Amino acid sequence: MDSFRDTYGPVALVTGASSGIGTAFARSLAARHLDLVLAARRVERLVQLAAELSAVHGVRADVCELDLAQPEAPQQLLDATAGRDVGLLVSNAGFSMKGEHSANDPQAMAEMLMVNCHAPMQLTQGFIPRLRERGKGGIILTGSVEGLIGCPYSTAYSATKALVKALGEGLWAELQPEGIDVLTLCPGATDTEAGAKSGIDMSKIANVMQSEDVAELAIENIRNGPTFISSEHYRMLFDGLLAMPRREALTTMAEGMRRSTAAAEA
Ligand SMILES: NC(=O)c1ccc[n+]([C@@H]2O[C@H](COP(=O)([O-])OP(=O)(O)OC[C@H]3O[C@@H](n4cnc5c(N)ncnc54)[C@H](OP(=O)(O)O)[C@@H]3O)[C@@H](O)[C@H]2O)c1
Repeated sequence: MDSFRDTYGPVALVTGASSGIGTAFARSLAARHLDLVLAARRVERLVQLAAELSAVHGVRADVCELDLAQPEAPQQLLDATAGRDVGLLVSNAGFSMKGEHSANDPQAMAEMLMVNCHAPMQLTQGFIPRLRERGKGGIILTGSVEGLIGCPYSTAYSATKALVKALGEGLWAELQPEGIDVLTLCPGATDTEAGAKSGIDMSKIANVMQSEDVAELAIENIRNGPTFISSEHYRMLFDGLLAMPRREALTTMAEGMRRSTAAAEA
């Protein structure tokens, strides 16, 4: 446990720590005795989580209230952590949007680009010099299996996660020789608030993972980059899809989505 702290501590920054996979990351890292900086908009949740982590694990946990849809937010986070020895960046905040691309709200789509893409790009760029100086540490980016292939009826979200995957892969190769680990976590369906926020009833979906397991597996596999699919079911599913001719894979996915939408509406 403490060797993990030696490499990736003493401080980890987790974005999107107010719920779901981010909260689970914070708990798993606190259990490994890392101090934390927790970032999100819902500050009352962060304060509650910080108190829990301090009480249970005796770690220091600071909170940073910010809206990552704002272009200056990543720089604010870099400034807020300037005096801290951050050895691990967990860029996890994100949200999705399901349905026909033409029906998406343009403003929400612009915000999704900021949160899902702009934030990890700026945060990684800002933290790399600090990690380099330490000569050790890591970056975990929460992508999605939807970043592995264009996903019909989740097209814009899927495109944002494709950027995360490309960012993580490139950085993995750049930073590998310097002893800095980069992992792009690609979760499949995970039981968090995200389902309800994008109109999905998670109880009707098979092979859903718990956020605690997803975060723990990502941490355990931090050295196994560039990408890591946390769900065995989705690993097999996407292995199959990616082995198919692209047009066939995309058509099959689109037909499956149309069938499940029709079934849900019936
Ligand atoms: N759940 C899944 O099935 C699934 C599958 C694949 C990938 N993922 C990815 O996993 C990551 C975590 O999602 P989750 O499933 O844990 O969902 P979640 O429970 O809804 O958590 C999303 C987190 O992102 C933060 N966030 C969203 N918009 C933000 C903004 N504008 N500024 C700052 N923080 C913001 C939220 O905090 P506030 O609302 O408090 O700001 C929250 O802490 C996301 O990147 C998501 O795309 C999820």
